[in-house]
Amino acid sequence: MKRTHNNGELTIHNIGETVVLKGWVAKKRDLGGLVFIDLRDIKGITQLAFNPTSSLYEKTLEIKNEYVLEIKGKVIERSSKNKNIPTGEIEVEVEELIVLNTAKQPPIMIQDDTDALEETRLKYRYLDLRRPVLQNNFLVRHQTVKAVREFLNQEDFIDFETPILTKSTPEGARDYLVPSRVNLGTFYALPQSPQIFKQLLMISGFEKYYQIAKCFRDEDLRSDRQPEFTQIDIETSFLNQEEILDVSERMIKHVMKSVKGIDLTEKFPRITYQEAMDKYGSDKPDTRFEMYLENLSSIAAKTTFSVFLNTLEHGGIVKGIKVQNGANLYSRKGIDQLTDYVKKFKANGLAFLKMQDDVLSGSIIKFLEKEVQAELIETMGLVNNDLVLIVSDKENVVAQSLGNLRRYIAREQKMMDEEDYDFLWVIDWPMFEYKEDQGRYFSHHHPFTMVQEKHLDDLYHAPEKAIAYCYDLVVQGQELGGGSIRIHQEEIQNRVFDILGISKEEQQIKFGFLLDALKYGTPPHGGIAFGLDRLVMLLLHTENIRDVVAFPKTNSAQCLLTEAPSMVADDQLLELAIKTIK
Ligand code: AMO
Repeated sequence: MKRTHNNGELTIHNIGETVVLKGWVAKKRDLGGLVFIDLRDIKGITQLAFNPTSSLYEKTLEIKNEYVLEIKGKVIERSSKNKNIPTGEIEVEVEELIVLNTAKQPPIMIQDDTDALEETRLKYRYLDLRRPVLQNNFLVRHQTVKAVREFLNQEDFIDFETPILTKSTPEGARDYLVPSRVNLGTFYALPQSPQIFKQLLMISGFEKYYQIAKCFRDEDLRSDRQPEFTQIDIETSFLNQEEILDVSERMIKHVMKSVKGIDLTEKFPRITYQEAMDKYGSDKPDTRFEMYLENLSSIAAKTTFSVFLNTLEHGGIVKGIKVQNGANLYSRKGIDQLTDYVKKFKANGLAFLKMQDDVLSGSIIKFLEKEVQAELIETMGLVNNDLVLIVSDKENVVAQSLGNLRRYIAREQKMMDEEDYDFLWVIDWPMFEYKEDQGRYFSHHHPFTMVQEKHLDDLYHAPEKAIAYCYDLVVQGQELGGGSIRIHQEEIQNRVFDILGISKEEQQIKFGFLLDALKYGTPPHGGIAFGLDRLVMLLLHTENIRDVVAFPKTNSAQCLLTEAPSMVADDQLLELAIKTIK
């Protein structure tokens, strides 16, 4: 029989029509002869009714949840209506019934709310994905990709595919390697991003590239990271930073409008990397609430607190945050918990002061003369019931601990609204970061990022001062995307490789083809990549990336469904001339 409708569309207007429906049994109820079945498909649920006098009654007895049915019947008005679903006012009185397939009892309940272990859900992912709540996630993912493509196609971007079996790309994570059988002893790397290929396509003259690109990174996994994930990858020729931010911003706004119906009319605000670090202690600040980091070093120098004085003497810094009404929210025990929290970020401790009845009190009050107290009250704008939390340490420890603490408190005190889309551009990133423990410079973004003209000289004299044409799009404290203007001149590229301590020989082995290509009329170019999975997470308000990836890996990078990665047969290894060490 040809299906006439899906299970989400019949309403009171279809009463009297004969319809053919197909789908899965979501629920069966036998009310002493009168049998009801909820038939489910991707579009929704329709209630089927089997009259006790019907010859089909016997047949319904064998039907269990998740059986696949095909039915023909008449749409009738329900006696007791369900206003919660679109088809809640009707039911279908079944006249013909075909069982297309039977089903074993599923190991998880196929319904929105589940208490099944994530392990079981991932092992039986195909059943997990039958749950309407998850199906909705993938419909949103589809709408997002559709909106992205719509926008970029409209703007004349060309959709490309770049190789998966390729050479290592320098995004800073470990590569996944694939051994070559035809060239024994050599390996392909799976791309960490299509970075070099998209640049080469600019050299080829395509001018506007995009790809919904799979990327692979062997890094420590978290709730917002998968070893394989998807980027909305973009590259353009002849556009400057301003123009790239503009087209990116319009794309994000188009997605927000198409998928969420939200009109974002304001221009996304911008903040420099330095400002973000100073004010929020983070390069991906959550700007939905204030609680800014305040530099208290000059006040700390006027105290008699040896911890502060020691820190300052050794080039450290003292900063604090103000928690409004915090004096009421946090008891001594609560503050102890906050102290334990900042210790995770290597802070030695957390000093606190409370303002109550116009008087300051707290762990360090005896080290603060009256005038110093007054200065602190003035600087931090304290009023009654405010709590001040202070960390004194090396600059990066202070930033990390207070930056994370402000988010921790905001989450605990529910200061953030998930519908508040605080898109923010973080710009003017330093080109390099010097890692003391490794004694060398690393690229903040990647080695193809261009230095700002006014900082060109720094590349030769003070690399740590060099500022890049580099930008991240941040929202709700998450990095959604990042990109840069690229180096299009070989000499600058060589200099950057030198600063990064990549020897001439290594430059040739790793990037010889790119350095060569730069000699053949490379246009100025730049681009950006957004994490598609993260964008969908944002739209769905989920903190778990596995909710938006159809067949995700666990935190130990395993697929519980297929049991990948797995051992392979000895002869397969032999063919590749590979021996494994136990
Ligand atoms: P970057 O490394 O910043 O830039 O990546 C861009 C965006 O990809 C997302 N992302 C991830 N999402 C899920 N799981 C992961 N493991 C993961 N890693 C990154 C983030 C991030 O903002 N080639 C450059 C872009 C460019 O310069 O054009 C790049 O890959 O949302």
